[in-house]
Amino acid sequence: MEKGCFITIEGGEGAGKSTCIEGLADWLRAHGIEVELTREPGGTPVAEQIRRLLLAPGEIPPESELLLIFAARDAHLHDRIKPALAAGRWVLCDRFTDATYAYQGGGRGIEEARIARLEDWVQGSLRPDRTLLFDIDVQQGMDRAGQRERPADRFESEREDFYQRVRQTYLRRAEAEPHRFRLIDASQPPDAVLTQAQDALEDLFD
Ligand code: TMP
Repeated sequence: MEKGCFITIEGGEGAGKSTCIEGLADWLRAHGIEVELTREPGGTPVAEQIRRLLLAPGEIPPESELLLIFAARDAHLHDRIKPALAAGRWVLCDRFTDATYAYQGGGRGIEEARIARLEDWVQGSLRPDRTLLFDIDVQQGMDRAGQRERPADRFESEREDFYQRVRQTYLRRAEAEPHRFRLIDASQPPDAVLTQAQDALEDLFD
Protein backbone atom coordinates (compact mmCIF):
# COMPACT_ATOMS: atom_id res chain seq x y z
CA MET A 1 0.00 0.00 0.00
CA GLU A 2 1.43 3.37 -1.03
CA LYS A 3 1.44 6.01 1.66
CA GLY A 4 -1.04 8.89 1.21
CA CYS A 5 0.03 12.52 0.67
CA PHE A 6 0.04 14.87 3.61
CA ILE A 7 -1.12 18.35 2.59
CA THR A 8 -1.38 21.30 4.93
CA ILE A 9 -3.12 24.63 4.45
CA GLU A 10 -1.72 27.69 6.22
CA GLY A 11 -2.26 31.42 6.46
CA GLY A 12 -3.19 34.30 8.74
CA GLU A 13 -6.66 35.46 9.71
CA GLY A 14 -9.29 36.07 7.02
CA ALA A 15 -7.28 34.30 4.29
CA GLY A 16 -10.26 32.12 3.30
CA LYS A 17 -8.56 28.77 4.02
CA SER A 18 -11.60 27.12 5.54
CA THR A 19 -13.86 28.05 2.60
CA CYS A 20 -11.36 26.72 0.07
CA ILE A 21 -10.43 23.50 1.84
CA GLU A 22 -13.87 21.90 1.34
CA GLY A 23 -13.74 22.65 -2.38
CA LEU A 24 -10.25 21.23 -2.56
CA ALA A 25 -11.34 18.01 -0.83
CA ASP A 26 -14.27 17.61 -3.27
CA TRP A 27 -11.92 18.14 -6.20
CA LEU A 28 -9.46 15.52 -4.93
CA ARG A 29 -12.31 13.04 -4.37
CA ALA A 30 -13.46 13.66 -7.94
CA HIS A 31 -9.97 12.49 -8.96
CA GLY A 32 -10.62 9.21 -7.14
CA ILE A 33 -8.50 10.08 -4.13
CA GLU A 34 -9.67 9.14 -0.63
CA VAL A 35 -9.33 12.27 1.47
CA GLU A 36 -9.29 12.80 5.20
CA LEU A 37 -10.20 16.42 5.93
CA THR A 38 -9.06 17.64 9.32
CA ARG A 39 -7.74 20.64 11.23
CA GLU A 40 -5.37 21.79 13.95
CA PRO A 41 -5.58 22.34 16.76
CA GLY A 42 -8.21 19.58 16.77
CA GLY A 43 -9.14 16.63 14.61
CA THR A 44 -9.79 14.08 17.39
CA PRO A 45 -12.03 14.28 20.48
CA VAL A 46 -9.17 15.01 22.88
CA ALA A 47 -7.48 17.46 20.51
CA GLU A 48 -10.79 19.29 19.98
CA GLN A 49 -11.05 19.68 23.77
CA ILE A 50 -7.57 21.19 23.83
CA ARG A 51 -8.65 23.50 20.97
CA ARG A 52 -11.50 24.82 23.10
CA LEU A 53 -9.05 25.59 25.92
CA LEU A 54 -6.71 27.37 23.50
CA LEU A 55 -9.36 29.52 21.82
CA ALA A 56 -11.36 30.50 24.94
CA PRO A 57 -10.78 34.05 26.18
CA GLY A 58 -8.22 34.49 28.96
CA GLU A 59 -4.48 34.40 29.58
CA ILE A 60 -2.31 31.36 28.85
CA PRO A 61 1.48 31.66 29.27
CA PRO A 62 3.14 31.32 25.82
CA GLU A 63 5.07 28.13 26.68
CA SER A 64 1.91 26.50 28.08
CA GLU A 65 0.14 27.43 24.86
CA LEU A 66 2.96 25.85 22.84
CA LEU A 67 2.84 22.63 24.86
CA LEU A 68 -0.95 22.39 24.59
CA ILE A 69 -0.67 22.73 20.81
CA PHE A 70 1.88 19.94 20.62
CA ALA A 71 -0.20 17.77 22.99
CA ALA A 72 -3.16 18.17 20.62
CA ARG A 73 -0.87 17.47 17.65
CA ASP A 74 0.49 14.30 19.23
CA ALA A 75 -3.04 12.92 19.75
CA HIS A 76 -4.04 13.94 16.23
CA LEU A 77 -1.00 12.28 14.66
CA HIS A 78 -1.40 9.11 16.68
CA ASP A 79 -5.16 8.64 16.32
CA ARG A 80 -5.84 10.08 12.90
CA ILE A 81 -3.11 11.41 10.63
CA LYS A 82 -0.64 8.51 10.74
CA PRO A 83 -3.31 5.77 10.40
CA ALA A 84 -4.87 7.61 7.43
CA LEU A 85 -1.55 8.07 5.62
CA ALA A 86 -0.58 4.44 6.28
CA ALA A 87 -3.89 3.31 4.76
CA GLY A 88 -3.10 5.29 1.59
CA ARG A 89 -5.56 8.13 2.22
CA TRP A 90 -4.53 11.72 1.58
CA VAL A 91 -4.72 14.02 4.59
CA LEU A 92 -5.79 17.60 4.02
CA CYS A 93 -5.11 19.47 7.24
CA ASP A 94 -6.22 23.04 7.98
CA ARG A 95 -3.02 24.26 9.72
CA PHE A 96 -0.13 22.26 11.14
CA THR A 97 3.33 22.96 12.58
CA ASP A 98 4.11 25.91 10.28
CA ALA A 99 1.31 27.67 12.22
CA THR A 100 3.22 26.98 15.44
CA TYR A 101 6.36 28.62 14.02
CA ALA A 102 4.26 31.55 12.77
CA TYR A 103 1.99 32.13 15.80
CA GLN A 104 3.97 30.89 18.81
CA GLY A 105 7.36 31.68 17.24
CA GLY A 106 6.76 34.85 15.21
CA GLY A 107 3.66 36.04 17.07
CA ARG A 108 4.51 35.20 20.68
CA GLY A 109 8.29 35.35 20.33
CA ILE A 110 9.18 31.79 21.38
CA GLU A 111 12.62 30.77 20.17
CA GLU A 112 12.47 28.75 16.95
CA ALA A 113 14.91 26.10 18.22
CA ARG A 114 12.51 25.21 21.04
CA ILE A 115 9.68 24.65 18.59
CA ALA A 116 12.00 22.59 16.40
CA ARG A 117 12.84 20.32 19.35
CA LEU A 118 9.16 19.65 20.01
CA GLU A 119 8.53 19.14 16.30
CA ASP A 120 11.25 16.48 16.12
CA TRP A 121 10.06 14.83 19.32
CA VAL A 122 6.35 14.67 18.45
CA GLN A 123 6.58 14.15 14.69
CA GLY A 124 9.81 12.22 14.22
CA SER A 125 10.61 12.61 10.53
CA LEU A 126 7.00 13.27 9.47
CA ARG A 127 6.59 16.57 7.58
CA PRO A 128 3.90 17.70 5.12
CA ASP A 129 4.47 16.74 1.48
CA ARG A 130 2.97 20.03 0.32
CA THR A 131 1.95 23.21 2.13
CA LEU A 132 -0.29 25.84 0.60
CA LEU A 133 0.29 29.25 2.15
CA PHE A 134 -2.75 31.50 1.73
CA ASP A 135 -1.16 34.91 1.81
CA ILE A 136 -3.08 38.17 2.23
CA ASP A 137 -2.31 41.70 3.38
CA VAL A 138 -2.75 41.73 7.17
CA GLN A 139 -5.22 44.62 7.28
CA GLN A 140 -7.32 43.11 4.50
CA GLY A 141 -7.39 39.75 6.30
CA MET A 142 -8.33 41.36 9.61
CA ASP A 143 -11.14 43.30 7.93
CA ARG A 144 -12.50 40.07 6.46
CA ALA A 145 -12.21 38.20 9.76
CA GLY A 146 -13.95 41.11 11.53
CA GLN A 147 -17.07 40.48 9.45
CA ARG A 148 -17.66 37.10 11.13
CA GLU A 149 -20.82 36.93 13.19
CA ARG A 150 -19.37 35.08 16.19
CA PRO A 151 -17.17 36.83 18.79
CA ALA A 152 -13.40 36.89 18.15
CA ASP A 153 -11.45 34.01 19.76
CA ARG A 154 -8.21 34.39 21.76
CA PHE A 155 -6.02 34.56 18.63
CA GLU A 156 -8.39 36.69 16.56
CA SER A 157 -8.27 39.28 19.37
CA GLU A 158 -4.55 39.91 18.77
CA ARG A 159 -3.37 43.21 17.32
CA GLU A 160 -2.07 44.00 13.87
CA ASP A 161 1.64 43.86 14.81
CA PHE A 162 1.15 40.25 16.02
CA TYR A 163 -0.30 39.35 12.62
CA GLN A 164 2.48 41.17 10.77
CA ARG A 165 4.99 38.93 12.56
CA VAL A 166 2.86 35.85 11.81
CA ARG A 167 2.78 36.73 8.11
CA GLN A 168 6.51 37.48 7.89
CA THR A 169 7.34 34.17 9.58
CA TYR A 170 5.15 32.23 7.16
CA LEU A 171 6.71 34.01 4.17
CA ARG A 172 10.22 33.35 5.44
CA ARG A 173 9.46 29.66 5.85
CA ALA A 174 7.96 29.47 2.36
CA GLU A 175 11.08 31.07 0.93
CA ALA A 176 13.33 28.63 2.78
CA GLU A 177 11.46 25.52 1.50
CA PRO A 178 10.28 26.27 -2.03
CA HIS A 179 9.83 22.61 -2.96
CA ARG A 180 7.26 22.09 -0.18
CA PHE A 181 5.46 25.45 -0.11
CA ARG A 182 3.18 27.01 -2.73
CA LEU A 183 2.11 30.60 -2.25
CA ILE A 184 -1.58 31.31 -2.89
CA ASP A 185 -2.74 34.89 -3.48
CA ALA A 186 -5.67 34.87 -1.05
CA SER A 187 -6.75 38.43 -1.89
CA GLN A 188 -8.48 37.06 -5.00
CA PRO A 189 -12.15 35.91 -5.11
CA PRO A 190 -12.88 32.38 -3.75
CA ASP A 191 -13.13 30.70 -7.18
CA ALA A 192 -9.75 32.05 -8.28
CA VAL A 193 -8.22 31.01 -4.95
CA LEU A 194 -9.55 27.46 -5.40
CA THR A 195 -8.08 27.29 -8.91
CA GLN A 196 -4.67 28.38 -7.61
CA ALA A 197 -4.88 25.75 -4.86
CA GLN A 198 -5.76 23.02 -7.36
CA ASP A 199 -2.88 24.02 -9.63
CA ALA A 200 -0.56 23.85 -6.64
CA LEU A 201 -1.39 20.16 -6.06
CA GLU A 202 -1.51 18.83 -9.59
CA ASP A 203 2.05 17.52 -9.71
CA LEU A 204 1.31 15.27 -6.71
CA PHE A 205 -0.95 13.03 -8.79
CA ASP A 206 1.89 11.36 -10.70
P1 TMP B 1 -8.23 28.50 12.74
O1 TMP B 1 -8.57 29.93 12.93
O2 TMP B 1 -7.54 28.21 11.48
O3 TMP B 1 -9.37 27.56 13.00
O4 TMP B 1 -7.10 28.13 13.85
C1 TMP B 1 -7.31 28.40 15.20
C2 TMP B 1 -6.27 29.29 15.76
O5 TMP B 1 -5.20 28.52 16.29
C3 TMP B 1 -5.66 30.27 14.78
O6 TMP B 1 -5.89 31.57 15.26
C4 TMP B 1 -4.18 29.98 14.82
C5 TMP B 1 -3.98 29.19 16.07
N1 TMP B 1 -2.89 28.20 15.98
C6 TMP B 1 -1.69 28.47 16.61
O7 TMP B 1 -1.54 29.53 17.22
N2 TMP B 1 -0.68 27.56 16.52
C7 TMP B 1 -0.81 26.38 15.86
O8 TMP B 1 0.13 25.59 15.81
C8 TMP B 1 -2.07 26.11 15.21
C9 TMP B 1 -2.25 24.82 14.47
C10 TMP B 1 -3.07 27.05 15.29
